[in-house]
Amino acid sequence: MMQVMKSTAAWKFVRAIKRSVLSTTGEVLPANECRGEVVLLNPPPCLEAGSRCQLNLKVQNRSGVQWVAKGDHAVRLRCRWLTFQNEPFDAEPTFSTLPRTLFPGEPQSLTLKLPTPDVVGDFILDIDFVQRDDTPFSDAHSESKAVRLPVPVIGPRTTDIDYHEVFRTANLDDNHWWVVGAYHSKEQYERSSRERLEMLVKQGLTPNSRVLDIGCGTGQMASAMKDYLSDTGAFFGTDIGKEAIEFCQRTFRRKNFAFRQGGMTTVPFDTSAVGCDFAIFFSVFTHTFLDETALLMSEARRLLKPSGVIIADLITSPLVERAAGHRGEMVVNKERFLELAAMLGYRAEIIGQWPWNRHAERFMFKLSQR
Ligand SMILES: C[S@@+](CC[C@H](N)C(=O)[O-])C[C@H]1O[C@@H](n2cnc3c(N)ncnc32)[C@H](O)[C@@H]1O
Repeated sequence: MMQVMKSTAAWKFVRAIKRSVLSTTGEVLPANECRGEVVLLNPPPCLEAGSRCQLNLKVQNRSGVQWVAKGDHAVRLRCRWLTFQNEPFDAEPTFSTLPRTLFPGEPQSLTLKLPTPDVVGDFILDIDFVQRDDTPFSDAHSESKAVRLPVPVIGPRTTDIDYHEVFRTANLDDNHWWVVGAYHSKEQYERSSRERLEMLVKQGLTPNSRVLDIGCGTGQMASAMKDYLSDTGAFFGTDIGKEAIEFCQRTFRRKNFAFRQGGMTTVPFDTSAVGCDFAIFFSVFTHTFLDETALLMSEARRLLKPSGVIIADLITSPLVERAAGHRGEMVVNKERFLELAAMLGYRAEIIGQWPWNRHAERFMFKLSQR
């Protein structure tokens, strides 16, 4: 009954009059009146980097005085992003005014649009009331309730990748070079193959080496090694992409080159591939979730000889607690990755390092067995 009355035009008119008569320009609230509650009604499970999110909020003045919405002493909402370590992220906070003066006990619903961080990471959404001096109410009063919500931020969905779909829909005979990476030309793809081969030679690759290429794609490294490996050497390529493996099987037809389709966490070679010198993962751990990465590293160990090593590249960022992203771009925390590698019995050495974005770096690791 009361609800029905409150929605009538007459009731709203009376309230508006009361509000304009009672409203003041406010004052700096003493700490014991900095008591409110902000509740997020639609907590986002995950957000896309560089987008804008809509936040539906319910706020309530839980103090004994009115909170003004305008003027020097207006109570405002401060929305900001913290890193997972509770430090302010480098984006500016957003300040929003309340829609109207709030009397003691009065609740109010409102909707805000907030820019999300522009990089992948594990962030905390922090929403609190502030007044002119910007001291958040939850710092001023222990009973004031702010929003503190962990939110993983991943790359835009348009940059996500389903490799099964990529290989199924591509004409690999013409386009084998661009479906597997951000190459601008076939020449750039071939230059990258040669540079990777040179890097492996620096790490001890010889024509007699046995190489396991996990996530071999359309055979960038098979192509680089087809005239390099001797008949004593061997090349084992595996990928989740059926069409990519079929392409490799018909393109690289040496007797000591074998290609098989694998699963997300399994390498489909058994005793035939035991005793490898190198297990290479080029641009693979940049697309696998960390648990898959761990299982693949464990699979590699099964096929490596004791002196054999993994060579793998990863994107790392201190803004990521463990791992964050999607299959288009997975970002890991370097320390967590190194701990994982050590747990699996690998000693890691950095053999290459490039900037990735203003917070992330790309590393090439050599993982030797301990
Ligand atoms: C960016 S491409 C790189 C291909 C190749 N290594 C190269 O550098 O040209 C990533 C490749 O990893 C493969 N891949 C992704 N997840 C995989 C997994 N769990 N096991 C094996 N291959 C995987 C994809 O199918 C794709 O061919």
